[in-house]
Formats: sequence, structure tokens, C-alpha cells
Amino acid sequence: MTGKAPLEIRGVSKNYGGLRAVQDVSFAAQGGEILGIVGPNGAGKTTLFDVISGHTRCTRGDVLVDGAVVTNAPVNVRLKRGIARTFQQPTVAGSMTVFENMLLAAFFAPRRGREAGRSPAGTAAEHLELVGLEDAASANAGSLSIFDKKRLMLATALATGAHVLLLDEPFGGLSAGEIDFTIEVVRRVRDRGVAVVCIEHVMRALVSLADRVMVMHHGATFFEGSPAEMLRDEKVIEIYLGVGAGSRP
Ligand SMILES: Nc1ncnc2c1ncn2[C@@H]1O[C@H](COP(=O)(O)OP(=O)(O)O)[C@@H](O)[C@H]1O
Ligand SMILES: [Mg+2]
Repeated sequence: MTGKAPLEIRGVSKNYGGLRAVQDVSFAAQGGEILGIVGPNGAGKTTLFDVISGHTRCTRGDVLVDGAVVTNAPVNVRLKRGIARTFQQPTVAGSMTVFENMLLAAFFAPRRGREAGRSPAGTAAEHLELVGLEDAASANAGSLSIFDKKRLMLATALATGAHVLLLDEPFGGLSAGEIDFTIEVVRRVRDRGVAVVCIEHVMRALVSLADRVMVMHHGATFFEGSPAEMLRDEKVIEIYLGVGAGSRP
């Protein structure tokens, strides 16, 4: 450990032509905490994740993992350094089995796997169990339900050995029971010391999970504080939460 934040972003901006999708955003995420990111559609939340995970390059600013600059590093290098993400739309290798998806992810972390004395198959099995999908190991990933695809996506992200986990709307499209289950899984991941950054519209889940919340609006940081402070902030209510925010599902 370096003593540096597992994830830090400094003054990150991303322009798409004339569109300023992300504007001068900075934050640090610590191990064992959950940072929530919310904001209206088009606020730049997913673009911010794209910049952090390396799926797109930022126009300005820096991304640091454990104090090391990875701003211009490709996705696979960031993955090896410990950043993994899930996507808003469930994204799995649909022609492969659940276990093959897991193995593929586990092979991205051979060094960590060896250090921990685990084979890729052991790492795959451990994380399938964490998300409750062990009985679906031989199922075709493409035919899974949305919930199971989302769980698989989370398990594959973790099987890479990530200590920074970016979750893009992990609760979207899930039933109340599935949301509760996923909340518990994310808590367990946090308790392992992972730095979790979670974009979410489902306020019930976000408020119960997040230690801190950042609200984005028009690409910029609009508010930072605790979930309770966010729920009663008049400006946040005006631009995002609307009337009856505290009781939204
Ligand atoms: N690859 C892209 N090319 C052009 N514009 C994009 C691209 N990705 C996102 N945008 C635009 O950037 C803005 C922010 O989008 P996004 O980050 O997806 O918002 P959010 O996740 O908060 O809903 C939107 O106006 C969107 O249309
Ligand atoms: Mg998005």
C-alpha cells in the first residue's frame, strides 16, 4: 500500500466536440468506502466512468490509481492496476457460459491470483458464490435474466482483483428483492476494503449504501455531502430529486 487514495481524479474534463460532457471534476475515493454519484440523465456520470476506466480519454485533468497517473493508460493497464467497472446495460460474453465469463475475468489478474494462492478457477468460483450465482455456472450467459447478467457483470469485475470498483446503475431494472440482495453484495465488497464508486438513480439503495454523495449537473460537480444532506438540499431537490424526494423508491 502506498498510503495514497486508491482512486483520485483531478480536474477532469471531457469534451465531445462542442459538448462539455464533464467539466473540471475532482474527487478521491478511499478503500472501504462507497461514493455515490447521482444526477439527471446526460449529467456526464457515465462519461466520467469512461474517463476513469480508460474507455475514453479525458480532454484535461488526471486520473490516479494509488497515486500513480494512469490518465493515458489503456483499459487493460488500468485493469491490471486494479480499476474495474460495470456498465449501465448488462454486458456479458453472451455465447460463453457463466463460468467461462468468470475465468476470462480471472485471467486478467494472474499476478494477484498467484499472490493469493488462487487459481483462476478458484477466483472464479469464489466470486460467483459472492453474488449467489454458483448454481448457474454452466448456464449460457446470454440467456440469463437482467438480474443474473448484472450479478455476473459484478462478479467478473471483482474477479479481476480490482480494489477500485465503478458501478454504473447496478440497481436499474431490478425488483425490490433483487435490489436488497445487491445492496448486501455491494456492502460485502466494501467491507473487503474495495473503494466503490456507484452511479445510481434508485435513491433507496444509494442512500442506504453511500458514505458520501456527489451530484453532477451539466458535467460539473453540483453538490458534495452525506446522503442525508443531499436529500434536504434545496438546490439538489430542484434540479434532480423533485418533490417527495425522500420517499422515492
Ligand atoms: N461517445 C459520445 N459521443 C458524443 N457525445 C457523448 C458520448 N458519450 C456521451 N455523450 C454525451 O455526453 C453527455 C453526458 O452523457 P452521459 O455521460 O452518458 O450522462 P449520464 O450517464 O449522466 O446520463 C450527454 O449529452 C451525451 O449525449
Ligand atoms: Mg449514464
